[in-house]
Amino acid sequence: MLGISAGIAAYKIPSLIRLFKKEGASVRVILTPDAHAFVTPLTLSVLSQEPVLSSFVSEDADNPVWNDHVALGNWADLMLIAPATANSLSAMAHAKCNNLLIATYLSARCPVMIAPAMDLDMYAHPANQKNLKTLEAYGNIVLPVGEGSLASGLEGKGRMLEPQEILEHSIRYFYSQSPLLGKKVLITAGPTYEPIDPVRFIGNFSSGKMGLALAYQAANLGAEVHLILGPHSLDTDEVPFNIEEISTADEMHAAVFNLYDTIDFAIAAAAVADFKPRMRASQKIKKETGTPLIELIPNPDILAQMGKQKKNQFLVGFALETENELVHAIEKLKRKNLDAIVLNSLADTGAGFASDTNKITYIGKNETPKSFPLKSKEDVAKDIWNEILT
Ligand code: PMT
Repeated sequence: MLGISAGIAAYKIPSLIRLFKKEGASVRVILTPDAHAFVTPLTLSVLSQEPVLSSFVSEDADNPVWNDHVALGNWADLMLIAPATANSLSAMAHAKCNNLLIATYLSARCPVMIAPAMDLDMYAHPANQKNLKTLEAYGNIVLPVGEGSLASGLEGKGRMLEPQEILEHSIRYFYSQSPLLGKKVLITAGPTYEPIDPVRFIGNFSSGKMGLALAYQAANLGAEVHLILGPHSLDTDEVPFNIEEISTADEMHAAVFNLYDTIDFAIAAAAVADFKPRMRASQKIKKETGTPLIELIPNPDILAQMGKQKKNQFLVGFALETENELVHAIEKLKRKNLDAIVLNSLADTGAGFASDTNKITYIGKNETPKSFPLKSKEDVAKDIWNEILT
């Protein structure tokens, strides 16, 4: 979210938008009303490929549209105010909510980066410096100013950083938030279906939600993610990572070991069927032929084999238990040579299969359990990655 206030440096913002777009960013623009004099909404809209907003209500013939500053603030991963004039800085520092840009800034939950731009003495004025310090103390990232010739003809500090420098600061910010950058993450999720005949299978109630949340969080932290996912009804159309859809434990096993040697972190959140029918009937079994006896044989224990073949991978398993939970989880941690295990128990309401929530205990190699309250699976995924990375 790019907020442009009314300073001469606004004429450089179209090139900044082009740089961001080239990096693959989605860019939306809010202009203060006075900034129109320095850069046209049409230019900004053509380059950002988004409507440009500058008032709380956009007039659309007889159909006024409210520009919801809360939604605008929530949309962004980063809000960048460039150029930030003394007037806007003062409004931001004192919550003087007098235009859409300031309202969006005050509502934004994302990090805010500020690129100040003003003339020599105005920049140096103690009141202005105090506002910059206040904004920094509120957690905003205040960029330095450039030095050189200013629009007034004076020389010195006050120029907005060049678009390329602002872009580099933004990229550095995102890198600093991406501890998994350059790392490959493998996650198994969902159930496996073990066919009995062409219409029936042995399966379980796993929805894949826990594994999908772990995959999203790994991608948010910068990783290249490979999700091996059993049969599911999740919306995976636009996920920012690779998904390989499998059906049986044997297929999951093959998909995992196709990648395992190249992986840095692996998390096994799948509920793999421990057994499969020895025979798969080629035709639908008819009830007229009597109750069938289905002989089962073991499936490969994928996680145990990952533990055996482990080199530098950080390997995390899950344990789904119903009683004596800690004892069973620690036994699996050791037997499968894991670096950590995540215990969830069907004895806890809202935990485990299919629900949107989970309640977990994370157990690292030191075998000290750390329990978390019931949370959304998205928040549980954040807790698990926090534990892995600390
Ligand atoms: O998918 P959801 O609906 O969101 O539900 C999430 C979940 C409950 C499935 C998940 O949180 C979970 O607990 N997954 C592991 C379920 C399980 O099979 O637990 P287990 O204790 O039987 O297996 C221990 C570990 O070995 C697991 O990491 C499992 O993936 C792995 N395993 C088990 C058997 C096998 N043949 N191969 C394996 O790799």
